Amino acid sequence: MAVDEGTAYEMEPSKHDAKLTEVGRGTPMGELLRRYWHPVALGSDAGTTPRRLRILGEDLILFRDGAGRPGLVHARCCHRGTTLYYGRVEERGIRCCYHGWLYDVHGHCLEQPCEPDAGAKHRHTARQPWYPLEERYGLVFAYMGPPAKKPLLPKYDALEELARGELVDADDTSIGSGGGVIVPCNWLQHYENLMDPYHVPILHASFSGTQFVAAMGLMPQVEFEPTARGVKSKSVRKLENGQVFVRVSEAVLPTLRVVPNPRVAGYGRVESIGWVVPLDDTSFRIYTAGRVTERGELGRGRSKMNGKFWRELTEEEHQRFPGDWEAQTGQGPITLHSQEHLRTSDRGIVALRRLLERQVDAVARGDDPLGVHFDEASAYVRLEAGQHLLEGTS
Ligand code: FES
Ligand SMILES: [Fe+2]
Repeated sequence: MAVDEGTAYEMEPSKHDAKLTEVGRGTPMGELLRRYWHPVALGSDAGTTPRRLRILGEDLILFRDGAGRPGLVHARCCHRGTTLYYGRVEERGIRCCYHGWLYDVHGHCLEQPCEPDAGAKHRHTARQPWYPLEERYGLVFAYMGPPAKKPLLPKYDALEELARGELVDADDTSIGSGGGVIVPCNWLQHYENLMDPYHVPILHASFSGTQFVAAMGLMPQVEFEPTARGVKSKSVRKLENGQVFVRVSEAVLPTLRVVPNPRVAGYGRVESIGWVVPLDDTSFRIYTAGRVTERGELGRGRSKMNGKFWRELTEEEHQRFPGDWEAQTGQGPITLHSQEHLRTSDRGIVALRRLLERQVDAVARGDDPLGVHFDEASAYVRLEAGQHLLEGTS
């Protein structure tokens, strides 16, 4: 009798690629990601009620003082460690509930009310760990890396050069088909999906019905190329009427998704930028800023599956009409890279992983990674992403 081949019993022990995925302090990728600014909240999230954030595996508290300055401090009070989540935001900063130490947005301790003279003599020796912030595009950006290496917060042409009647709005909506705001899987599963245009005609057009528009259902001719900022993909589709639909998406370092609206409301340069923000090794969220004609427009136009929004689907409908959420969280908390079988259609994924790996190595050597800028001119980033309809040649 023939012996069975390829049974699961023969599987090798499986593992993920820690160098590419893990984001904590002191990890190789964590050190790379800490060389860039990341959006950590909407501007409107920073207020007089302390807000818990988890970013790159660190537990933080966001607030806004009476002068309107946002502050981001470690959650554990540097006195005896209770959380500043239960603190009170005051004119000059945030006050710990336990013994009343007051910290400003830079972590300076301004008062220690249980100490002689409110701690006047020694309070400067205690500093609450803090991170610098900048507000732009309706988002609060944090820099969590080595202070001497702090780059400029880049500006992006897609969000700077507005047509008449346009404004920039931000939101924290989730991946493609909706879903919860916090996505329970590793950030790279979503980020590298940007360089996977081949899944569009399958997942978004044939397997689950038309999630975007009919033209996206055609299998594209795809080229991947490195850019000065990351990797781009160019997908070309010949439409039935002879026109050619060209779509350029970019993965910009460290985690920017620069993808034209797949519902193709119009042609032209890319409308929005999304930042894939790792909360820790097994969850992320997305902040988006884009050009709109009125506030609130970004979150609209969500895909419907089976005529319903993601939240309304039954479990069986999630199985029958999966979208990006299902496919990417379905790879597990951190996908098992050692089990993969990459093929020609994965060459964009491979290009992005290699680029990331080279940046991790550069940082380990003491060099600056791609896309950190220290002068205004280079910190103004011009993007190529967009979608266009060309008249066919035949
Ligand atoms: S633990 Fe915060 S003031 Fe004592
Ligand atoms: Fe997708």
